[in-house]
Parts: sequence; structure tokens; C-alpha cells
Amino acid sequence: MITEPPRVEGFELQALSEADAPDLLALFSDPEVCAFMDIEPLVVEAEALDIIDWAEAQAAQGLGVRWGIRRAGEARLIGTVGFNRIERGRGRWGEIAYDLARDQWGRGIMSAILPAVISRGFDDWGLIRLEAMVTAGNERSCALLARMGFRQEGVLARRGYWKGQAWDQLVFARLAD
Ligand SMILES: CC(C)(COP(=O)(O)OP(=O)(O)OC[C@H]1O[C@@H](n2cnc3c(N)ncnc32)[C@H](O)[C@@H]1OP(=O)(O)O)[C@@H](O)C(=O)NCCC(=O)NCCS
Repeated sequence: MITEPPRVEGFELQALSEADAPDLLALFSDPEVCAFMDIEPLVVEAEALDIIDWAEAQAAQGLGVRWGIRRAGEARLIGTVGFNRIERGRGRWGEIAYDLARDQWGRGIMSAILPAVISRGFDDWGLIRLEAMVTAGNERSCALLARMGFRQEGVLARRGYWKGQAWDQLVFARLAD
């Protein structure tokens, strides 16, 4: 099952489901968390449900998966991580994505979790390339990817357009050993 969560000591990952909607609303209603994301800060739970529905549909088709992150034994959703896209037909690559609640930044949490996610892609699924698309200016995300062995391959100028403006997208990738 694509949704089978990677194991990370000290944390519990679980594929997002509709029960996570209130927690996801809390996470994505923070403008700082959404600053470089292609969504406006969420206002109502229905918007969180839409994201969860999308993630579940991706998983059902084997095209992606998003796991919620909790500290072991704690109820609060502190972030999410997963694959926005998994290509196993005319390619063998995946696009990772991740986020943490603002008060969880600066503690090494995503650096602790991503190795297991990366291993899922390379070792368990046989992918040969992992990508991340980062909005220009998202320095924390760039630093995280550099720590994880990703290299910036280029810039897709004005690739994104949301929140009333164009955004350059940085393409990061790590290849299988
Ligand atoms: C991208 C994001 C997850 C990065 O979070 P982060 O906390 O900077 O990343 P990490 O979890 O790897 O933690 C690294 C930080 O913890 C510190 N740290 C503490 N202990 C650490 C440890 N054991 N290992 C590594 N770093 C540690 C590092 O010094 C670093 O902090 P600093 O940059 O202030 O020096 C976060 O900024 C976020 O959720 N942003 C909003 C959503 C988003 O933009 N997602 C990305 C879309 S492409």
C-alpha cells in the first residue's frame, strides 16, 4: 500500500484522512506556513477537507501520498510530508513535499523525517530521481533540501501564478545512488 507510513523514531506518520480536517485547518490557516505555498491561508474546515480529498484521491490512484506528522503519543498534528506525485510509468521519479507548524521550525524535525521518506522512494519503490519544487525565496526549504543531498538544477521562471502574482519555482533533485 502506497499509504503505508515510513517509520521515524519519536514520530507517528499516518496518511491524512477526513478526521484530520480540523488539525489541517489549524496548520494551514497560518499565513507564515502558507507564505511560499500555492494556497491562501485556509479559513474554513471545508478547505482542509478539499486538500484531504485530493490527497486521498492521489493515493487511491497510486499517484501520491500525504502523511500527517505527530510526535509519538501526542494528538496534535504538527505537519505533513509526502509525495505530491509519483511517476512509475514513463519515468521513475517522485516529487516530495512537506510542511511544519511555525512553532516547530528550527528543531531539526523535517531533517529527521525526510531520510525515511527519501528511502521509501528510492529503496522501497525503486525510484531513481526525487524532486522538490520550491518557490524562490523559501530559504528554509532550500536549506533543508541541501541538507538532504538535493541539488538545485534550475529555475522555472514565473512557473507559478497564485495570490495575484507570478512566482519563480526552483527545481531541486536528488538521484538514487
Ligand atoms: C520547510 C520547513 C519544513 C523547514 O523547517 P526547518 O525547521 O527549517 O527544517 P528542519 O526541520 O530540517 O530543521 C532545521 C532547523 O533546525 C535546527 N536544528 C536543531 N536541531 C537539529 C538537528 N538535530 N538536525 C538538523 N537541524 C537541527 C537547524 O539549525 C535548523 O534551524 P536554523 O535554520 O534556524 O538554523 C518549514 O520552514 C516549513 O514548514 N515551511 C512552511 C511550508 C513550506 O514552505 N514547505 C516547503 C514547500 S517547498
